[in-house]
Amino acid sequence: MENKVKDAGTAKLEVGGKTVSLPVYSGTHGPNVIDIRKLYAEVDHFTLDPGFTSTGSCESQITFIDGDEGILLHRGYPIEQLAEKSSYLELCYLLLNGELPTKDEYEAFGKDVRQHTLLHTQQDRFFDGFRRDSHPMAMLTGAVGAMAAFYPGAMGNEDPEERRRDSIRLVAKMPTIAARCMKYNLGQKFVDPQNRLSYSENFLNMCFSVSAEDYEVNPVLARAMDRFFMLHADHEQNASTSTVRLVASSGAHPFAAIAAGVASLWGPSHGGANEAALRQLREIGDISNVPDFVKKVKDKSSGVRLMGFGHRVYKNYDPRAKVMQKTAHEVLDALDLRDHPLLKVAMELERIALQDEYFVAKKLYPNVDFYSGIILEAMGFPTKMFTVLFAVARTVGWVAQMNEMLEDPSQKIGRPRQIYTGAAMRDYTAMTSR
Ligand code: CMC
Repeated sequence: MENKVKDAGTAKLEVGGKTVSLPVYSGTHGPNVIDIRKLYAEVDHFTLDPGFTSTGSCESQITFIDGDEGILLHRGYPIEQLAEKSSYLELCYLLLNGELPTKDEYEAFGKDVRQHTLLHTQQDRFFDGFRRDSHPMAMLTGAVGAMAAFYPGAMGNEDPEERRRDSIRLVAKMPTIAARCMKYNLGQKFVDPQNRLSYSENFLNMCFSVSAEDYEVNPVLARAMDRFFMLHADHEQNASTSTVRLVASSGAHPFAAIAAGVASLWGPSHGGANEAALRQLREIGDISNVPDFVKKVKDKSSGVRLMGFGHRVYKNYDPRAKVMQKTAHEVLDALDLRDHPLLKVAMELERIALQDEYFVAKKLYPNVDFYSGIILEAMGFPTKMFTVLFAVARTVGWVAQMNEMLEDPSQKIGRPRQIYTGAAMRDYTAMTSR
């Protein structure tokens, strides 16, 4: 990656009796950044920013978010336009290569992905080691990590062609692994990929078809699946992406780095929120219970948060949530579930929260996970699978970000510092005199 930051002056910092001049850079969009790389060498101080609320960790040319305005761009293109006019596979190409494909490039890319969807038969045997009721995210973390054993050549590989092939392998095989996690939970036979189907149709087929009868993929559901994948494809330096970058920065196997990303995504503050949000909607059950529930959320001592609401970066309506809400209506219409009780609860929750002083003052709006669970449940996915679906979609973002980091001449192994507040230096005491 060619570094493209522009000089935008300097910032002066006075610390410990010394003044240090720090370079300031501007990017294409977004706030300027102060480059503190030389701070420690010049004034012997670190910065402290747990949760990285004011810290940029890299230069990136993939995704931009304006949280105040509710804008999300991939390679410059607004997510609403992509969700409306593009497809997940085209978005994968865009994220990985930087530009939209021509027709020939798109066809070649699709063919390449289809050629890599199968798993090594030995890898299928991994699943037998799991309990039948294992959480599919536990299986996914293990199965993706295990892929490193099947492609040992990817370790430390600097050949761009090999790296491209590994990227394709990850995008292609992730749906196959994810569908196997679901089938294993259900006690059903694994279904192999079908190259005649599109990416999303193929995934639905691997999840829902059984050998006893024909399965026709509903085109509205295939489109909704594709849109779900698009809306979750990348989101700049979130926890799981930063995890992938950090793991890969040590030169670790790229598939192991992606497995670490899956693990990071699992938590309810991140990708696990879609599962938690749907469980919460079920718990509320009926719109008559919404006011009491909102009261509980506003009472900090209850420890209850409204799942699918709030975001570290968005202080406005998450643009993905708008598309997700529209898709929820399309899916429920197609399935004749217009009066789905959970959709009613969700809409009433949103209505009350958007005018309640607590949520308004804290700028808490629905995020991508607020409506996605309703769509996935209506499509027939078990709740435990929701975060797995997020992981399938986000794989391309992780891979694009990891490749960008590996090709960035300014990147080093990630190694944050700390402020130490433990015991001061002291002498070891023998056990007999403690
Ligand atoms: N319900 C109630 N109060 C909330 C919520 C919520 N969902 N989110 C934040 N707050 C309050 C929080 O209590 C705090 O109040 P105060 O300033 O009085 O202490 C204030 O808003 C700021 O919250 P924070 O935890 O400091 O903000 P954060 O940026 O660290 O957290 C978040 C962001 C997404 C973890 C948080 O909003 C949250 O827990 N949301 C629910 C989980 C969720 O939906 N996560 C999915 C995020 S989108 C998908 C993804 O990208 O992974």
